[in-house]
Amino acid sequence: MYFLYVQDCKQGCGHVKKFVRLRRAPFSWTGLVFGISDEMEEAYRSEEPEIVAFCCMYCAYAAADMAGSMRLNYPSNVKIILVPCTGRVEVDHILEAFDKGADGVYVAGCEEGSCHFERGNIRAKRRVEYVKKILEELGLEPERVEMFHISASQGHLFAKVAGEMTERIRKVGILGWNKSHKG
Ligand code: FES
Repeated sequence: MYFLYVQDCKQGCGHVKKFVRLRRAPFSWTGLVFGISDEMEEAYRSEEPEIVAFCCMYCAYAAADMAGSMRLNYPSNVKIILVPCTGRVEVDHILEAFDKGADGVYVAGCEEGSCHFERGNIRAKRRVEYVKKILEELGLEPERVEMFHISASQGHLFAKVAGEMTERIRKVGILGWNKSHKG
C-alpha cells in the first residue's frame, strides 16, 4: 500500500514539480492511517500494473508487430507508444507517463550502433538512467523504468521483455494512484 506525499526534486531540475507522489508505507501505518482492511489490501495488490513502452518504429515496434503475427502472447497491460527513434523520448515524456498513471515505463530501441539517427538510443539510455535517479529521489523504485534494445526480427524478445517488465512491476507493486488520474 502507498500513501501520498509531495516533494520537489532536490536538484531543482523542474521536471517533477507537478508530481503528486506515492510511497510505500509500512503495513502497520496503512492500517492506522487509512484503516485499510486486509481484503482491501489484497484487492489492491491483485490489480494488474499498467506499463507504457516507448518503441522505436524501426526495431521494437516492428518486433511487437512480429510478436503479434507469430501469435506470441505478451501482457495486454503493456501500452505501446510508437516513436520515430528512442532519441525523441525525453525525460519529461517518461515522467508524464508516470504522472498519467503508469506503474512502469520502458524504452525499447535499436541495438547499439544500429540507430537510424546514430546516437538516439544512446541518448535514450542516458535519459532512462537519469529518470531512475529521479525515481530514487522520490522514494520510488528505479527499476520501474528501463531501457531495452530489440531488433525488428526479435518478436520473441519483445514478448519476453513485456512479460519480464510486467513481472518486475508486479513485484515492486502498483503505484495505485493511476485510477484517480483516469477519466
Ligand atoms: Fe531506433 Fe534510433 S532509430 S533507436
